[in-house]
Amino acid sequence: MNLDAHSVPVLTIDGPSGAGKGTICRMVAQATGFSLLDSGALYRLTALACLNGNIDLMSEVLAAEQAECLDVAFKVVGDGTQVLLSGEDVGSIIREERVGMAASKIAAYPKLRAALLDRQRAFRAEPGLVADGRDMGTVVFPDATSKIFLTASADARAHRRVSQLVSLGQAADFEKILADIVARDKQDTSRASAPLIAADDALIVDCTSLSIQQVFDAVMETLPSCQPCL
Ligand code: DC
Repeated sequence: MNLDAHSVPVLTIDGPSGAGKGTICRMVAQATGFSLLDSGALYRLTALACLNGNIDLMSEVLAAEQAECLDVAFKVVGDGTQVLLSGEDVGSIIREERVGMAASKIAAYPKLRAALLDRQRAFRAEPGLVADGRDMGTVVFPDATSKIFLTASADARAHRRVSQLVSLGQAADFEKILADIVARDKQDTSRASAPLIAADDALIVDCTSLSIQQVFDAVMETLPSCQPCL
């Protein structure tokens, strides 16, 4: 970790599920050489640890305990990253909708969010960080170099999710996916602790009718001071 972490550039990309944050963050990380924080994965890993341990998701104290002693590792393998929970590769399991919903539920607990704070901040290291989440620009990195709030209509996000699943050869029920997205938006925006909201100084990018390249270009334009590292 950098001795003066605050001088390390951070680009935060917050927004609702399915807006394309993950894709844009990966593109930015590749273009800049910045490392990548997928904060949602930490909430999903905590949720999976709770589900695996039959922990009552209604208990803030028990769920926060799981966050405190989370045994996770992100291991770079070839072009991808393996996500390990207690040594087991759980990269696909944490993407399941049941884990996402559980993550959204426990993410409402202030004690659990506090337990994950330092772990997230520790990702800030030279040459820079691109951070993907819900509260990256508002809570975790309020002093970020550049902040984006990436959003799209629920309908557009559901259509994208359907195409994604179909391209993976998986079944996709549009109405169910749309209902899940709307339910998760409600859960993430209505919680009292670090709700999903754009930071006052964030650039709001509505990508309902934008291509991935257009979003990427808009995001990169906010990083003028990082041009030399491109
Ligand atoms: O980005 P994602 O879908 O992987 O995130 C899963 C859930 O975790 C999301 O519904 C809300 C929660 N989350 C959060 O509260 N704060 C973050 N910074 C990232 C995710």
